[in-house]
Amino acid sequence: MSASAQRVLAPGGDALHAAVQAELHPQKQHAHVRFINLGKVYEGPQGQVPALQGIDLDIQRGEVFGIIGRSGAGKSSLIRTINRLEKPSTGRVLIDQVDIGDFNEDTLVALRRRIGMIFQHFNLMSAKTVWQNVELPLKVAGVPKEQRQRKVAELLELVGLEGKHKAYPAQLSGGQKQRVGIARALVHDPAILLCDEATSALDPETTQSILGLLREINQRLSLTIILITHEMAVIREICDRVVVLEKGEVVEQGPVWQVFGNPQHEVSKTLLAPLQHALPEDVQARLQSHPSEYHASVVLDLQFTGSEPDLSALFSVFGGQVSLLHGGVERIQGRALGHLLLAISHSPLSVEELLIRARKHAQQAEVVGYVA
Ligand SMILES: Nc1ncnc2c1ncn2[C@@H]1O[C@H](COP(=O)(O)OP(=O)(O)OP(=O)(O)O)[C@@H](O)[C@H]1O
Ligand SMILES: [Mg+2]
Repeated sequence: MSASAQRVLAPGGDALHAAVQAELHPQKQHAHVRFINLGKVYEGPQGQVPALQGIDLDIQRGEVFGIIGRSGAGKSSLIRTINRLEKPSTGRVLIDQVDIGDFNEDTLVALRRRIGMIFQHFNLMSAKTVWQNVELPLKVAGVPKEQRQRKVAELLELVGLEGKHKAYPAQLSGGQKQRVGIARALVHDPAILLCDEATSALDPETTQSILGLLREINQRLSLTIILITHEMAVIREICDRVVVLEKGEVVEQGPVWQVFGNPQHEVSKTLLAPLQHALPEDVQARLQSHPSEYHASVVLDLQFTGSEPDLSALFSVFGGQVSLLHGGVERIQGRALGHLLLAISHSPLSVEELLIRARKHAQQAEVVGYVA
């Protein structure tokens, strides 16, 4: 085994390496996972299927990193290159600065132990108990019995399944099955946890409890979590940063509050549309597309990303009567995301001037119509 592979694979070795590096080069934070010009082409029965191209992406140690995109965008293909379930066609994957493309079969086995993975359908063995499911990978790795028992007991306690050691998967709820999946993924003290649609088969309440558990292990075990989901609320709830993939390419990335507050790409806007505030039905019914004698108030839709709207400033710059039709402020990662629907009447300013002034205060402003 090469010295660099040894360093990544030693228990706690990569964390130690990162700590030493941070000490030596405090200004330089190395990515935990780095994709460099990554590409993947599958050989299908009907020829080549391009899945990923030109992916350059850094995932930092200890962050919860979300991957979103439409079906077929390449999300699973990307995540599976991290533990080499998929071999990239071009480009490189670095883990802790080590190119895993150089790994041989033995080092790959060791690498996969350092990277846990959980799945939508849990992938538990139905003929084995909760305890046996979690113990199995330790047995396969040849871990002595006493050590195995300590580890399994500790993990089942961590995921809140102390009372379920002898239960079979069929006797568990979906949330409990995913807790077994999480315990099993953690048996080798991984540094990275990959989650491919891990909450997609769960109801909203159970999803919340699993997200709470993932957040807890992210913090308690300093685990880097990389998760794919089609549930945008999951990203908003738990991720620090998010990337949007489309046709195998990165089209947008950034802190969740920024991407969710002010999505730039069409795909991001479409994916996030269900989270956007639709106009209330009664306002929608009153809206006209053109001003008239009766519909004289112009309605502005203002979005605030990252800071609270300054209402006194807003109300004074328009030089007329301002009514709040709808809106409010929500928070993501402690950042305010505001959305206000204002009706402005009796202003001496043109609509264009109102918009110019609105855009000095809000990240986005547009006219949505006119009301009486
Ligand atoms: N083993 C394979 N052989 C051939 N083509 C594949 C294979 N796996 C994936 N693909 C193709 O690669 C592209 C990306 O697939 P991938 O599974 O990564 O997408 P995804 O974003 O995870 O989609 P979903 O949201 O539906 O899970 C798709 O066009 C898919 O059909
Ligand atoms: Mg997928």
